[in-house]
Amino acid sequence: MKVLMVNGSSNEKGCTYTALTEIGRTLVKEGIEYEIFYIGGGAVRDCIGCRQCAKKGSCVFTDDVPLQAFLEKARGADGFVFGTPVYYAHPSGRLFSFLDRAFYSEGRHGYGAFAFKPAAAVASARRGGTTASLDGINKYFGIAQMPVVSSTYWNMVHGQTPEEVCQDAEGLQTMRNVGRNMAWMIKCFAAGKEKGILLPETEKVFSTNFIR
Ligand SMILES: Cc1cc2nc3c(=O)[nH]c(=O)nc-3n(C[C@H](O)[C@H](O)[C@H](O)COP(=O)(O)O)c2cc1C
Repeated sequence: MKVLMVNGSSNEKGCTYTALTEIGRTLVKEGIEYEIFYIGGGAVRDCIGCRQCAKKGSCVFTDDVPLQAFLEKARGADGFVFGTPVYYAHPSGRLFSFLDRAFYSEGRHGYGAFAFKPAAAVASARRGGTTASLDGINKYFGIAQMPVVSSTYWNMVHGQTPEEVCQDAEGLQTMRNVGRNMAWMIKCFAAGKEKGILLPETEKVFSTNFIR
């Protein structure tokens, strides 16, 4: 059993990473592996809506972020955590662009890599804008049939440096509880599968654009 996390910060070992690591340590204690996927600090193309992913099966852009490598790992993962620093009260542009392309291209396959797998959003901020940022990330879960993992507070840490995050006792506790709750959900789903509880059938999606 494995949880795939995305660090949406250009700081590879910064505050977001520190929060994700706290979740990871808890997962390991619960017998679940984890990996923190770094999407890099370089330019990330936004989705251009070319819809070539529907024909090709994958995003046309292959030279900026390791999107395909991520999606291959995502297919084998049992749960997800998407972490972001807060930028002007929203998630980082790089995380949004990455997730837009990941979910749009995977949406063409019924969100196969993501559907029915528990997911959590995590935000790291110096001070404000966390809940708006979490809201932005949670939107991906809602459209891809992903059960949302909650905690004892909204999933945030505060700090401008990893050292400051390490002083945020409640934030780190919130991360540990995300880890425990994620592990519990993954184990429950595995136990259900063993008992023959199948994934729900999804109806063919109507795409009406409000034209009746
Ligand atoms: C462009 C930019 C905008 C930011 N906007 C906010 C903000 O709106 N609210 C806030 O509390 N912190 C803000 N910050 C601070 C970061 O969110 C905070 O330091 C975060 O913990 C950094 O995480 P990282 O080390 O993983 O990159 C901003 C930082 C940058 C670079």
